[in-house]
Amino acid sequence: MNKANRFVKWWGTSVVCVFSGLSVLSASAAELNLENWIRTQTTRSLNGVHAAISPRDGAPGSIMASPSRANPDYYAYWVRDGSLVMKEVFAYRSLDRRAVDTLKDFAMFSRRNQLTPNKSGEFFDRALGEPKFEIDGSPYTKNWGRPQNDGPALRASVLITLAEELILQGDRDFVSRVLYRAELPATTVIKADLEYTAHHWRESNFDLWEEVNGHHFYTRIAQWRALEDGSSFAKRMGDGTAANYYHQQAGMILESLQAYWSSNAGYLLTTLGTNNNRGKDSNLDIAVLLGVNQSSKPGFAFSVTDPRVIATAYALERKFAEVYTINGVTTDRDGRAMAPGLGRYAEDVYNGNGEGRGNPWFLATHAMAEYLLTLRGELKRAGSVQITDLTRPFFQGLVSRQLMNKRRLGRTDPTFNEVLTGLQAKSDAYIRRSRFHTGANGSQAEQFNREDGFMQGARDLTWSYASFLSLRRVRDRNYE
Ligand code: NOJ
Ligand code: NOJ
Repeated sequence: MNKANRFVKWWGTSVVCVFSGLSVLSASAAELNLENWIRTQTTRSLNGVHAAISPRDGAPGSIMASPSRANPDYYAYWVRDGSLVMKEVFAYRSLDRRAVDTLKDFAMFSRRNQLTPNKSGEFFDRALGEPKFEIDGSPYTKNWGRPQNDGPALRASVLITLAEELILQGDRDFVSRVLYRAELPATTVIKADLEYTAHHWRESNFDLWEEVNGHHFYTRIAQWRALEDGSSFAKRMGDGTAANYYHQQAGMILESLQAYWSSNAGYLLTTLGTNNNRGKDSNLDIAVLLGVNQSSKPGFAFSVTDPRVIATAYALERKFAEVYTINGVTTDRDGRAMAPGLGRYAEDVYNGNGEGRGNPWFLATHAMAEYLLTLRGELKRAGSVQITDLTRPFFQGLVSRQLMNKRRLGRTDPTFNEVLTGLQAKSDAYIRRSRFHTGANGSQAEQFNREDGFMQGARDLTWSYASFLSLRRVRDRNYE
């Protein structure tokens, strides 16, 4: 909470006295430069993630969304959160000898989830749309926004990377016993997820925020990626017919995503085909950027360099800059730039424990920091920046010279370098925003308050930590 105190201090006056006793701590933390903070925060995030996996009263391979058991109760397993967390466990496996075993536990737990009758479906295969389970793997029996079809797709994607690693290590036995066999009806976890995704992607379901029933960009792009990678993997496993089928469905999913672009709005819409958007009239949502970060691939539509994606990132930044009071503060205590804290969507009313006012989220803020660096990496590799009417405002915001009607910046153009540096600087400004609201011990809840900057909602949200680890990986590759 101490970083948030700084914020209170910033606004000055009487509040300062109340919190001044704590400000000693924040002062020493502030002396660490950003690089040091990132390094420390990586360790803290890894610890946060590991503390959430296979808890004592849970099943092996199960992951708590947060240790918070009341107000809100997040002490449960969500397929989406769990899959994104396991993606990081796998990516950081060089730092953890047990990582592959942890993923094997996760695979077995996931298979059990698939076979557990629940409120999304009593029988195979509709049961796969169930978004959450109790921490011991028993079904969650209360009302909920179900089904949510991003889960099986995200889970398949991370388990495919595990399977490939196991094949490399010569552990084919686990792969064919638990992860993938061609037989139908599916008897293995990846196969079941791919079949479910390939057969049900057209169906209406709840979004990742568990609020809106419809068709969602985030869910669709996750499904596309699962089937795209699933197709190559199936082929490798000698399942050629399925490989063709997955590939064909993937193509149709990608095609269906074209409809999410709105030239009127100037950004990619988050949901289509709903009859209750719960007040999200803008249809502008960080979910689109999360989807691109997690599931897009260079060279395909909706990758980070797609002008429609760039325009969406720009629209998100502008929107959130104006909706949250804390975003009026644009420098940290050392006078360095802080970008806006980002939330899920501007009209959000979920305050982390019920209805009220929505707030910025760590994982949303991290997503933008990550996006900017991935974009930087791609532009650098390409050696040029294409500028269109859609992307001109975004690029103009990064550079000093007027772009006017320039259409392309080549490698030798000094403005090209300015773009690369600008992306890095902006990403750092988002990381400073996250740092500003992070607890002195590195803790990150789900949200930070839009007015006073204090953390709120589920404490130690496992997904907050995973989102930082994801950002850190991308930064290592694309920052110099
Ligand atoms: C809990 C969900 O997880 C959250 O995303 C949602 O906003 C609230 N319920 C309100 O429906
Ligand atoms: C609420 C979020 O909206 C949802 O995306 C998440 O899965 C759950 N909380 C658990 O963290």
